[in-house]
Amino acid sequence: MAPVQIAPGIYDVGVNDWNVQDFHGYSTPFGTSYNAFLILDEKITLIDAVKKEFADELIANIAAIVDPRKIDIVISNHTEMDHSGGLPRVMHRIGEDKPLYCSKMGQKNLALHFPQKWNFHPVGSGDTLSLGKRTLHFLETRMVHWPDSMFTFLQEDGILFSSDGFGQHYASLEKFDDALSIDIMPHAQKYYANILLLYSNLIAKLLAEVGKMNLGIRMICPDHGIIWRKDPGKILAAYDRWSRQVAKRKAIVVYDTMWHSTEAMADAICEGLHETGVAVRPMHLRRWHRSDIITEVLDAAAVVVGSPTFNNGLFPTVADFLTYMKGLKPKNKLGAAFGSYGWSGEAVKLILDELQDMRFELVSQGIRHQYVPNSEALEACKAFGKSLGARIIESVPEK
Ligand code: FEO
Repeated sequence: MAPVQIAPGIYDVGVNDWNVQDFHGYSTPFGTSYNAFLILDEKITLIDAVKKEFADELIANIAAIVDPRKIDIVISNHTEMDHSGGLPRVMHRIGEDKPLYCSKMGQKNLALHFPQKWNFHPVGSGDTLSLGKRTLHFLETRMVHWPDSMFTFLQEDGILFSSDGFGQHYASLEKFDDALSIDIMPHAQKYYANILLLYSNLIAKLLAEVGKMNLGIRMICPDHGIIWRKDPGKILAAYDRWSRQVAKRKAIVVYDTMWHSTEAMADAICEGLHETGVAVRPMHLRRWHRSDIITEVLDAAAVVVGSPTFNNGLFPTVADFLTYMKGLKPKNKLGAAFGSYGWSGEAVKLILDELQDMRFELVSQGIRHQYVPNSEALEACKAFGKSLGARIIESVPEK
């Protein structure tokens, strides 16, 4: 990707990773980008690096604008290797002695990744750095996405370099929200649900803190995906909703099935939910990637999980999904379980135990049916769907 000027004297010199399909377990069918930013001022500054494999492309992008050796300052907003893997090569090219600004935890974590003894300058919230005509402000943003993460704000231009925050795994030659022909919000939602959901409480606090600072943000430049130029308020408002885990009148029915019996129960539950006006989608665990299901969980009021009993336990894909969801700690959910079984029938109780551990509010004792559900059993599933739908309508305000 050629460098893109995002404001006078400021460039995105990052790269697209068109073909990455899996980002530590998260499906990325649209690839991703590793954005990095170059600021031309009296002190020429590089913000963030890229994944190791793309370091040469980053250096070439910088060289198309300025001799890399003329860079005076490097800033590392986050240690994860999609942003730091290219640092050894980049620092070697720029000059190993150039000052490298990062959080205190960033210094510690970079030292745990790389043997080089770089010229670290640790900074904390409230610290500033003059580049000449412009000033950078640092804000530590622990757990957005790692303990070392920080934002860097360029005051005069109103640009927030937000590292993982507000990103999307979406590779594109168009770099701005106003230049896209697709709706980027589902990609931003998927990113939040899979990368940041666990840290929602911290993100809510961070948003409140940033709001109080009255920074006058005119543009948000994350390290993944497109830049929020036209309407940074749109992604800030979405993060406010997602971090508070505001639910819609929506349910998802997640299941796997062996001989279509649990599937028939899932479909009947969905029919009942649909009749009440609740948005619902059945999600078969061998049709949908867990990261797409979690994206739907984020703003659902209810998560209904179905599993056949398999070797006296859960079907493996259901166990996988429950483990994944438990780690991300979604809040404010109603939960229920269902499933067909042959002779022992443990799966429904095992699901309920997991949902209870996740502090979901359980709305039933679980629906179990031996072997193939007949019309009465399916009617009971539909009736359950209707009662759950009524509960959602009653508890979630209409938008
Ligand atoms: Fe894009 Fe947490 O790294």
